[in-house]
Amino acid sequence: MRVLAIYNPKGGCGKTTSVLNIGFALHSMGYRVMLVDADPLGSLSAALQISAGASGTYRLLKKQASWSDLKEVRGVAAMPSSRSLAALEVEMAGAIGRETLLKQALKEAPDYDFVLIDCPPGLGLLNINALAAADEVLVPVLAEYLDLKILSHLADTVAAVRKYLNPQLSLLGLFINRFSRRKINKETLAGLNRLFPGLVLQTMVRDSVSITESPARGLDVLAYRPNSNGAVDYLRLSREISSTFPRQ
Ligand SMILES: Nc1ncnc2c1ncn2[C@@H]1O[C@H](COP(=O)(O)OP(=O)(O)OP(=O)(O)O)[C@@H](O)[C@H]1O
Ligand SMILES: [Mg+2]
Repeated sequence: MRVLAIYNPKGGCGKTTSVLNIGFALHSMGYRVMLVDADPLGSLSAALQISAGASGTYRLLKKQASWSDLKEVRGVAAMPSSRSLAALEVEMAGAIGRETLLKQALKEAPDYDFVLIDCPPGLGLLNINALAAADEVLVPVLAEYLDLKILSHLADTVAAVRKYLNPQLSLLGLFINRFSRRKINKETLAGLNRLFPGLVLQTMVRDSVSITESPARGLDVLAYRPNSNGAVDYLRLSREISSTFPRQ
């Protein structure tokens, strides 16, 4: 089982979109896949058209339920989230082990080839839980906006989680999202490669209307427009991920 946290503290860079589409792409390649929605806003759950009420990831992390709230969507398992997850940080403020709730829960999870965790934006307890539970971190980076400060902060967070909570954690890589020739230039790519040598994945996911449209139809881009640029790119990215092992 490979547990991947799709993480970038910056909002709107394509975390949820990537969990959805990489998940179904890996499933189409024959892998057994589980998606975990760790964002109280539940965009992934909405795209999958599954709802949790007071159950899902919240109950799992509160140890009120095990994996019984797991849903299945077109062959992919998914744990929905709900607003109640937003209260977790306050509710668990003084609790020992609050950073490793998801890690503990995953020890009892059914076996999958890939588990993809959709992280919320920001730097809160849910993200620490995702990083503490993960084997690898995958980072979508917006082509148009390379915020080196956020990225170096991200590197520091991964290093801190590795030191204090999860020594096995590694950076699988970063990939450019919403790529278009207009938006990215050689200097930007060179900057990214300098900051993360050897960790920038080959595949860039192009800006694609089909990617934007598919969640509203309750579909991933492969099911919605199998021949679109978005579907082609997410399949290529998933092949790269499945053949890449962490280097750092
Ligand atoms: N390659 C792409 N082409 C076109 N639209 C995209 C692409 N990637 C993401 N988007 C769109 O960008 C918006 C933000 O994406 P998404 O919700 O996946 O980001 P996020 O990192 O999960 O955001 P948050 O941090 O708020 O959870 C969405 O409307 C999504 O449809
Ligand atoms: Mg999101």
